[in-house]
Amino acid sequence: MSDLDTLVQEARALFESCQTPAELENAKAQFLGKSGHITLMMKGLGALSVEDKKAQGALINKSKVAIEEALNSKRAGLALAELEVQLKAEAIDVTLPGRSSAQGGLHPVSLTLERIEGIFGSMGFDVAQGPEIETDWFNFTALNTPPDHPARSMHDTFYVEGDYVLRTHTSPMQIRYAVEHVRRHKEALEAGLPMPEIRVIAPGRTYRVDSDATHSPMFHQCEGLWLGEQVSFKDLKVVFTNFCYSFFETRDLELRFRPSFFPFTEPSAEIDIQFASGPLAGRWLEVAGSGQVHPKVVSNMGLDPEKYIGFAFGMGPDRLTMLRYGVNDLRLFFDGDLRFLGQFR
Ligand code: PHE
Repeated sequence: MSDLDTLVQEARALFESCQTPAELENAKAQFLGKSGHITLMMKGLGALSVEDKKAQGALINKSKVAIEEALNSKRAGLALAELEVQLKAEAIDVTLPGRSSAQGGLHPVSLTLERIEGIFGSMGFDVAQGPEIETDWFNFTALNTPPDHPARSMHDTFYVEGDYVLRTHTSPMQIRYAVEHVRRHKEALEAGLPMPEIRVIAPGRTYRVDSDATHSPMFHQCEGLWLGEQVSFKDLKVVFTNFCYSFFETRDLELRFRPSFFPFTEPSAEIDIQFASGPLAGRWLEVAGSGQVHPKVVSNMGLDPEKYIGFAFGMGPDRLTMLRYGVNDLRLFFDGDLRFLGQFR
């Protein structure tokens, strides 16, 4: 075997033993580098005769090509191995069970508010919203509850600096909405034309200094107001009874209008319901305050109490949610525990 063949074999063996591209490039230098064997042999050709130069040059060149081939094939081999390592490291185990993405849902009280809005909407009621920081006027005085009125002590009020309170009920929306309604129909009213009836509900947050299993300092109310020339207590009964049937999805319940007192309604009634069956059967449950809108309140709306009459009610969506789902502690609604909240869809 010629020296050149030995050299090619040495190169092949050396390249084969390389583990990394860097090692391989170092090995290459021994043969093809500036002072590598092949390079030096080529330089040595200068001393030979033209004939020998030609013959020997061709042989060296053949070996050089063979070494380059070995080098390239090893290069490709190493690159492939590297790719395999990389693929393995980045491998995705498609047999792993997937992670399900948690699906959000509405808060149970929001679900109740949506139901209330839907049901009253179907009975022609508008839905209105108003400020939670309310003036003393709208929260109390306009509702026939002047500053020295004993009924003010019925509400444990959060006072805000200035003449403001955190609204203790949604009843101020009766005045706000009616005043706006009157303003909108000012021309008709001035021309002695009939004013379209006011039919509105106003759901929202309300606040009182109170906290136990059935009271939260922040709670929800939904006001209702129906005012016109021909509206009567009978309409309140019909509307509220139908609401309860729809809301609880049963007619297996009774309503009771229990005489009560509110400064802004006269007469006033507490609305109680009783289910004929189910876990709550046989107990009267208070769900709303109500009454015929007091003449002073009608005046404060900018309307003639001799001509306009109506009824109002204020119910507790938190309470309704508890009854509908059988929840016994109101605080669960506001603790933000997803194990509880996730049960409502
Ligand atoms: N605002 C009253 C309350 O919070 C409820 C009510 C509303 C009563 C409308 C009568 C008419 O207790």
